[in-house]
Amino acid sequence: MQITILGGGGFLGRRLAHRLAKDGALGDRAITGLTLFDLQAPPPVEAPFPVRCLGGNIADPAAVTAAIPAGTEVVVHLAAVVSAQAEADFDLGLTVNVHGTLAVLQACRALTQGPRASGAAPPRVVFTSSVASFSGGQDARLEDDARQLPGNSYGAEKAIGELLLQDASRKGFLDAVNIRLPTVIIRPGRPNKAASSFVSAILREPLLGLETDLPVPEEFAVWICSPRRAVEWFLHAMTMDTKPLGLDRGINPPGRSATVGKMLSALEAVAGPEARAKVRHAPDPAIEAIVGTWPASFTAERARRLLGFSEQESLEEIVQGFIEDDLAATRAERGL
Ligand SMILES: NC(=O)c1ccc[n+]([C@@H]2O[C@H](COP(=O)([O-])OP(=O)(O)OC[C@H]3O[C@@H](n4cnc5c(N)ncnc54)[C@H](O)[C@@H]3O)[C@@H](O)[C@H]2O)c1
Repeated sequence: MQITILGGGGFLGRRLAHRLAKDGALGDRAITGLTLFDLQAPPPVEAPFPVRCLGGNIADPAAVTAAIPAGTEVVVHLAAVVSAQAEADFDLGLTVNVHGTLAVLQACRALTQGPRASGAAPPRVVFTSSVASFSGGQDARLEDDARQLPGNSYGAEKAIGELLLQDASRKGFLDAVNIRLPTVIIRPGRPNKAASSFVSAILREPLLGLETDLPVPEEFAVWICSPRRAVEWFLHAMTMDTKPLGLDRGINPPGRSATVGKMLSALEAVAGPEARAKVRHAPDPAIEAIVGTWPASFTAERARRLLGFSEQESLEEIVQGFIEDDLAATRAERGL
């Protein structure tokens, strides 16, 4: 089985690539090749199958076509401009998050339609949409059929991507699973340009022995998942039977709703009160204005009961998971 990860040099793309390399197989099928595509060619991954590492722009149809060669059965589309950056630069967000997804759709479509068609089944496309495609704010607990009403450009671009891929699935051009990811914590490395960057920072920075700012009150709740769980969801989405989805390709996976205060208590339980003391209260209305529109909770019944997506770990397990998986590498990367 040939697989392509678009955005394969990013946080989750890299993690998924390492997991595929470790497993050597997806479900009961051996992996025969993996393409990692990102703005800069991602560093190679040691694997029991050939790995191609390509650099290019997701909005460039020729580059995307090269990243999705004939014979590709699964495409994981993670390439994106994240929330605060897409809000600050409307044109960049539109180019990468909308035109990029359109280029992915057309490259996948060309595998089964037109001159490059091989007669193979339409490729599975796993697309990462976001909780940011919804509104509702702190009081919301959204049902599976809740309407997407984005309060920011990034969320709107993700919702557009979902609709495009959903319609392409109906047409038989591809077979999409659109996962609306919660905020994934704890992100390793450095703070990034996502408005939700602080949710990881308030746990990661103290574990590194560094002080950090909390831009929202401790009662502020966030819909979260762990990187370990996000990768499990991707693997499930890459192989699951999509018939039960019908027309509706959008999935709210079973994340966890947690207040910042609960996260800090988990930090304290694992790393002691001195870790918690490194978090300074520093209200930031601009950040709160973006993340404050995102719903803090979902019922996620369909993903949980009908579609077999796995449950979230506890907050303590998430903190412990970061210590086991990422703390040493983050220290090394940041020269700490
Ligand atoms: N991490 C989260 O909390 C979270 C939450 C909801 C949704 N998502 C979505 O999940 C996906 C993966 O998230 P992540 O945290 O790994 O993000 P990330 O920023 O680490 O990775 C995205 C990758 O896309 C690449 N990219 C950006 N513009 C590109 C372009 N023009 N051409 C090619 N590649 C380009 C970036 O270089 C980056 O490596 C993204 O689509 C993101 O929007 C993430």
